[in-house]
Amino acid sequence: MMMDLIKKVAGYLASASDVVALTGAGVSVESGIPPFRGKGGVWERFDPMEYASIEAFEKDPAKVWRVLLSELKSLVDKAEPNSAHKGLVKLEKIGILKTVITQNVDGLHQKAGNTDVIEFHGNFAWHRCMKCDHRTDTQSLAPDQIPPKCHCGGIFRPECVFFGEMIPSEAMWRSRHVASHCDIMLVVGTSANVQPAAYMPVLAKNSGAKIIEINTEITPLTGHISDHILLGKAGEIMSLLITEIENCRQAESTIGRQC
Ligand code: OAD
Repeated sequence: MMMDLIKKVAGYLASASDVVALTGAGVSVESGIPPFRGKGGVWERFDPMEYASIEAFEKDPAKVWRVLLSELKSLVDKAEPNSAHKGLVKLEKIGILKTVITQNVDGLHQKAGNTDVIEFHGNFAWHRCMKCDHRTDTQSLAPDQIPPKCHCGGIFRPECVFFGEMIPSEAMWRSRHVASHCDIMLVVGTSANVQPAAYMPVLAKNSGAKIIEINTEITPLTGHISDHILLGKAGEIMSLLITEIENCRQAESTIGRQC
């Protein structure tokens, strides 16, 4: 049953050339980075308003660093792209996928090799001084200084979007643009609970795109906005999809048969 659906979706993808992926925390779970919501999620242990809002960071950056950011840094430092990230690179290389819009700050899509990645919630690879605006890469922060400080004495903050902050304007307008011009949007590993990211599939749908979700669970998009959901782990589903797309393309080139 699921294989039939995978074959059907692979057929759509094989004949598409302007696919956009919207990804969320679920795409990095198989790389060892936990999601935010649901079982084992970060927000099960911490209140996001107490640790992930800009007010919380400005009030007590050391607390946010100790509880949330130090753990994120050690997870991101050792994380490697998984089959889901690699599958999206393959889709780009064969001319199907154009852009990845990611809510993740872990940099794994770029590390895997995707070349057009919109970081909707910023990234954790860079820090910026809140006093003099000096930028530094996260790797070079002294591990024993919490919160990390700039030579001017100001506090470094990650270039991530905290709750209560605006989406970086270029990320916002480019996402809106690619979402409203794609032929298929793949929505991978996001609970579609956080706006405005969760609006991108709605925009794509209203502009005529097919919406395909890959998730271990249904989401608020399922059955309303998405045309299909492939239920399962992103890495496993993506690997099956890639195999089927390659079969489709081979059948097309050897016997001229469309999937
Ligand atoms: P969530 O943690 O809200 O959702 C993760 C989704 O991934 C859920 O729908 C899971 O069912 C699914 N999932 C878990 N494991 C999976 C796997 N192996 N394969 C496929 N799917 C899997 O994460 P996001 O939707 O990314 O914002 O959350 C959006 C934003 O909320 C984040 O960017 C962050 C957070 O608070 C900020 O920090 C501003």
